[in-house]
Amino acid sequence: MSDSHNISDSSHIGEMNVLLVDDEKHFREILVKRLSQRGIIALQASDGEEALRLLEEKPVDVIVMDVKMPRMNGIETLRHVKDQYPATEVIMLTGHASTRDGVDGIKAGAFDYLTKPIEFEQLLRKIRQAQNKIRRAETEKKEIEFRERIKQQMAINERLVALGTIATGVAHEINNPLAIIQDSAGWVKQILAKPEMSTIPRRPDFEKALDRIQTSVDRARRITQQLLHVVKTQSAEIPDLVEMTEVNLRKLAGECIALVELEASYKEIKVSLESSDPNPIVWTDPYQFAQVLLNLLTNSIQATDAGGKINVVIKSSEEQVSLAVQDNGYGIPEENLTKIFEPFFSTKAVGVGTGMGLYISSGIVTKLGGVMAVDSQPDKGTTFTIELPVKA
Ligand SMILES: Nc1ncnc2c1ncn2[C@@H]1O[C@H](COP(=O)(O)OP(=O)(O)OP(=O)(O)O)[C@@H](O)[C@H]1O
Ligand SMILES: [Mg+2]
Repeated sequence: MSDSHNISDSSHIGEMNVLLVDDEKHFREILVKRLSQRGIIALQASDGEEALRLLEEKPVDVIVMDVKMPRMNGIETLRHVKDQYPATEVIMLTGHASTRDGVDGIKAGAFDYLTKPIEFEQLLRKIRQAQNKIRRAETEKKEIEFRERIKQQMAINERLVALGTIATGVAHEINNPLAIIQDSAGWVKQILAKPEMSTIPRRPDFEKALDRIQTSVDRARRITQQLLHVVKTQSAEIPDLVEMTEVNLRKLAGECIALVELEASYKEIKVSLESSDPNPIVWTDPYQFAQVLLNLLTNSIQATDAGGKINVVIKSSEEQVSLAVQDNGYGIPEENLTKIFEPFFSTKAVGVGTGMGLYISSGIVTKLGGVMAVDSQPDKGTTFTIELPVKA
């Protein structure tokens, strides 16, 4: 399964590489053996230079390194490592009663230090802690990338849709009066062509003026046609942005909830996630779908009083998976239920809502082969339900 959007997968971390750098061969060998008994494969280097050479061939995640080594000492090696491989965590081993070295190590970017003689279990704990730190950093990085990608996607979609909507509206609004001008000019021309009009003064000038009106109207019409054409070709590009793949909807929903949790917490709103199936797989574009879900969650947060509740409920069947965003907020008056999907319809204060959220979201859901529906009762709450196909 190509669950590529997954930002919390850390299954590979167990296979993290460790490099042990120490000039005492015997010590190194015992440690490597004991680590391997605990499932940790460690490479070895007898000094800093060899360690750097090894890293060039194969970067590692955690380094356990002696401070006192011939030629390039541990602190110096540490500086090189941190400079070239900032994500690598280094645990320094210092001589007994030389805390100073340990402190210097920390200052130079070491994860931590242990004093020799080291206690094996303690070293193991430190290695695990360093691994956890790397895992957290990786998850955070992926979360940031995920957020950035959705933000970019939203900006592109919003721009295209807003532009298209405005341009189409303007083109139609202009075409109507243009048609009236064209017809009226034609009508005046016909009247001027009648024999009884042949004697009116400056008739050729009138005819010329009418011709000019007609040519100008033609030009304006061509411009609006071009505008509509541009909009059509631009919106034809939207499907190119869609990357369909198998997606674990429960995971994706969890990731979206995590992104709005802070906003919800300001109003003490609890957002929960329920799914009968632990792995509800759908065929969709995770980034586009995340945009829809974020829009729905944001709407629910904005429509719910402090202390409210939002539930995301996923139900799966063989054919399709449905996802509902339920809130116990203000609800939507019946007369607005059809309008909410129109562009620029918003009941929110200027600057809070543009009214494009549901218009874009419903467009995306259709593009993804799904269906979106709404059910709402004023003062009780609102439920938006999306049904998505399971297979391509
Ligand atoms: N969960 C909800 N509860 C109550 N009203 C809602 C809910 N979701 C949407 N609405 C109503 O539908 C309108 C349109 O929503 P939409 O998401 O399209 O625009 P918006 O939220 O006003 O602005 P934008 O999403 O562009 O920032 C909202 O202004 C609000 O009146
Ligand atoms: Mg909205």
